[in-house]
Amino acid sequence: QGYETILTETRGRVALITLNRPQALNALCAQLMTELNDALARFDADPAIGCIVLTGSEKAFAAGADIKELQPTTYPQSYTGDLITPWDGVANRRKPIIAAVAGFALGGGCEVAMMCDFIIAADTAKFGQPEIRLGVMPGAGGTQRLTRLVGKSKAMEMCLTGRMMDAAEAERAGLVSRVVPAAELIAEAMKAAETIASMSLPIVMMTKESVNRSYETTLAEGIRFERRVFQAMFATADQKEGMSAFVDKRKPAFRNG
Ligand code: HXC
Repeated sequence: QGYETILTETRGRVALITLNRPQALNALCAQLMTELNDALARFDADPAIGCIVLTGSEKAFAAGADIKELQPTTYPQSYTGDLITPWDGVANRRKPIIAAVAGFALGGGCEVAMMCDFIIAADTAKFGQPEIRLGVMPGAGGTQRLTRLVGKSKAMEMCLTGRMMDAAEAERAGLVSRVVPAAELIAEAMKAAETIASMSLPIVMMTKESVNRSYETTLAEGIRFERRVFQAMFATADQKEGMSAFVDKRKPAFRNG
């Protein structure tokens, strides 16, 4: 696709996107965010893809927004130049995205990981919101998503002091779904992605949408939303197939319809 800051490949129904600016620990410069959004949008729209894995290098998932780009920015530029809007692209995708994190996930890197649907961490992963040390604070959802994921006390400490969490602490706190040995990170993330991609795509997308509702609405509204979507699933052929396969003691063959 002519990308310079990311690598993309597909393995079956799974797309793998690798952040690739090794000279800057995958700092998320404007070009990288443009390319990442482009790749995510393409895979999201591609009916042959059922799940996306986003990863970085052994040393860094991403060490944050590109500080050298941000350093001269003025307030009017940050406002009119739409500095942060492109980052929403990661959170707004409708197919599942798994973040496979090894090494540093700092600042905007931690924020992008949290925009994904879940995080699988290598035992080498380190998460942090060190922006305060630069005279700013998290700007791509970090003060909100981290607080919802790990609670106020830990989020406040991390945002106010810039302290990093290691993988074990991140798992205890609920920031990551699980920790795996670094050498197995990609294999484990791909395995989870292949499992998701083997399910019915519309059901997967409705499930993602329903879980995300819990962040956006009251419990009563969320329950009502879930109920409507659950009922709608009985209009799909894949519900009939999935339940018939169970009754017949065979594997389901979902047709994404
Ligand atoms: C630009 C970065 C960078 C970044 C690292 N580099 N992080 N460049 N932006 N965020 C570059 C370094 O300048 C250096 O380039 C090279 O990557 C290697 O980094 P080192 O610091 O030499 O590596 P190391 O000593 O191993 O330290 C790793 C580190 C440190 C602890 C991760 O690099 C670090 O503290 N980085 C900044 C982390 C941070 O503050 N992130 C928040 C950014 S603000 P040269 O050319 O010197 O070799 C943010 C706001 C988001 O994310 C808001 C949304 C818009």
